[in-house]
Amino acid sequence: MKEQLDNIQKQALAEIQNASDIKSVDDLKIRLLGKKGELTAILKQMGKLSAEERPVIGQLANEVRQVIETDIARRREQLKNLDTERRLKKEVIDVTLPGKRMEQGGRHPLNIVLDELKEIFKGMGYSIVDGPEVEETKYVFDMLNTDEGHPARDMQDTFYITDKILLRTQTSSVQIRTMLKTAPPIAVISPGKVYRNDSVDATHSPIFHQCEGLVVDKGITFGDLKGTIETFAKRLYGSDVKIRFRPHHFPYTEPSAEADFSCFKCGGKGCSLCKGEGWIELLGCGIVHPQVLLNCGIDPEVYSGFAFGVGLERLAMMRYAIDDMRLLYENDLRFLKQF
Ligand code: DAH
Repeated sequence: MKEQLDNIQKQALAEIQNASDIKSVDDLKIRLLGKKGELTAILKQMGKLSAEERPVIGQLANEVRQVIETDIARRREQLKNLDTERRLKKEVIDVTLPGKRMEQGGRHPLNIVLDELKEIFKGMGYSIVDGPEVEETKYVFDMLNTDEGHPARDMQDTFYITDKILLRTQTSSVQIRTMLKTAPPIAVISPGKVYRNDSVDATHSPIFHQCEGLVVDKGITFGDLKGTIETFAKRLYGSDVKIRFRPHHFPYTEPSAEADFSCFKCGGKGCSLCKGEGWIELLGCGIVHPQVLLNCGIDPEVYSGFAFGVGLERLAMMRYAIDDMRLLYENDLRFLKQF
C-alpha cells in the first residue's frame, strides 16, 4: 500500500506539472482528491490493515494528500501568473504612437454674427430673452396691432397649424410676451428662428433668423432709438459706417422707420453688393405704438419705448459679402471653413 501511495504521488505530481491551463488543474484536483478520487479509494481500504500498519499508512496517505494539494495550488498560481503575463504582453500600449487627430469644428457665420450682436447689446445693459417658435396668433399679430385683414396674416405668407396657432413669422411676438411678464424699465433682445411661406432662392428661405430688440422706460424717444442703432451698426461694421432712417410703416410702431447703412463694401459709392444704391437695408424699427403698450397693461402716458427687428442672415451676408443665402444652410465645409 505504501508503494501504491508513492506511485499515486509521483504520477499526480507529473500530471499536475503537465496541466497546461487552470481548468485542467481544477479537473485534476477533483480526480485526485475528490470523493471518487484514487486517494480516497485507498483510504477506504484501510480497514483491511493491521492495527500497527494503520496509523503509519494513514499518516502517509495524509502526507501524500498534502503534497498533492500544495502542488496543485503551486501549479495553479504559476499558470495564473503566466496567463497574466501573456495578456499584459498582448495588450501592451505603445504610448509613443501618435494619436488620432480630432477634426475641430468652427462657428457658423450666423452664430458669429449673433454672438457679436449679443455682446454688443449685453454691453448696453440688455438682457437676452427667448420665445416659442410655435406661437399663438394673438402674440404674433393681434396684440401687435395687426388685425384680421392685414396682409402679413395671409395664408400665402404664413404657416398656420390651426386658426390660432402658427409658426411665428417674426420675433416681434416676444415683445408682447416680455411686456406682459415684466414691468418697465425693459431692455431686451430676442434672437430666434422665424418662418414664412417663401420659396428658397438667393435671398429667401422659409426658415430664417431675426433678432428683436425692445426698450420701454420713462422718456424714451426716437433719439434713443437712433443712437442705439448707430452704436450697434458701428460696433458691427466699423466706425466709418453711415446710417440713415427712412419712414416706413409697421402696425406696432408709430412712427416707424427702416434703417439703412452705407454699403460696407464700396463705402456708399455703389457696387454689386448694394446693387448700385450705396445703401443697404438693415432693419425695421420705430417707437412702440401706444396701443401695443396698452394691450400689455403699460400706461403710454407714463412710459414709451422703441423696438427694432433685424435679420441675421442679412447681417451675416453683408458682413462677409455672401451673395447667396443658400450657402448658409448647405453645410458645405468648403464654405464654412472660411470663417
Ligand atoms: N417684425 C418686422 C419684420 O419681421 C421687423 C420689425 C420692424 C421689428 C419694426 C420691430 C419693429 O420690432 O419695431 O420685418
